[in-house]
Amino acid sequence: MKVLFLNGPNLNLLGTREPEVYGRLTLADIEAEVRARAAQLKVEVAFHQSNVEGELVTWIQQAKGRYDAIVLNAAAYTHTSVALRDAISATGVPTIEIHLSNVQAREEFRHTSLIAPVCRGQICGFGPKSYILGLEAAFYVKAG
Ligand code: DQA
Repeated sequence: MKVLFLNGPNLNLLGTREPEVYGRLTLADIEAEVRARAAQLKVEVAFHQSNVEGELVTWIQQAKGRYDAIVLNAAAYTHTSVALRDAISATGVPTIEIHLSNVQAREEFRHTSLIAPVCRGQICGFGPKSYILGLEAAFYVKAG
């Protein structure tokens, strides 16, 4: 099984970015945790981050036929991007939306996700463990 992890804007700043909201782990630390769990599950993972919306769109498009699932932290694009939503529905690769923070407990503009209706499900609020739960959800989707 192959799972593609995609990370949107500003997630490259994890570790120093608002640690009271996002914690102190860097994205590289989180990737290492994901890879350790993926090895236990015998899942192959790729892990990318971009601040550029179009780059994320291209990675989603290219996932078709190459990956069994996408785990996507679209960051701020979650709340704004019709392009990401269209890419997810166009490719049809099962996609799991994740967030470190509990977006429903934050500002109102974060309560809306444009991608949620085309994702298999949403995991938020568990800090870096949201990534592990996202991986396990992808595994479950494939197995189930
Ligand atoms: C986030 C939540 C988003 O609202 C925010 O724009 C982010 C990070 C999270 O992981 O909690 O950049 O996706």
